[in-house]
Amino acid sequence: MARAPKSYQVTITNTGQVIACTAQQTVLEAAVAAGIDYPYTCASGNCGTCVSRLDSGKVTMLARGDASLSPEQVKGGQTLACRARPRGDLTVTWLGRGRK
Ligand code: FES
Repeated sequence: MARAPKSYQVTITNTGQVIACTAQQTVLEAAVAAGIDYPYTCASGNCGTCVSRLDSGKVTMLARGDASLSPEQVKGGQTLACRARPRGDLTVTWLGRGRK
């Protein structure tokens, strides 16, 4: 019998919602599945639309295009929701749509 994938709590500060996200899901996939209007375009790590600040927690990043997130942004605690899988409970804030 397959074990249920490990699931973490992801807090989206923009909406104040707390959603479940498994270790096999990206933050973006979990947010969209929960009905959150998270900003994204490509969902494949190339456009940077889903750029988010990782307020707390750690993620595993899937492969992404070099232009979508600079090393400086990574150092500054930013991530791409469409490429980030949780390694524990997380808090994220999306930075798109003119928000900072
Ligand atoms: S949606 Fe394009 S980089 Fe995430």
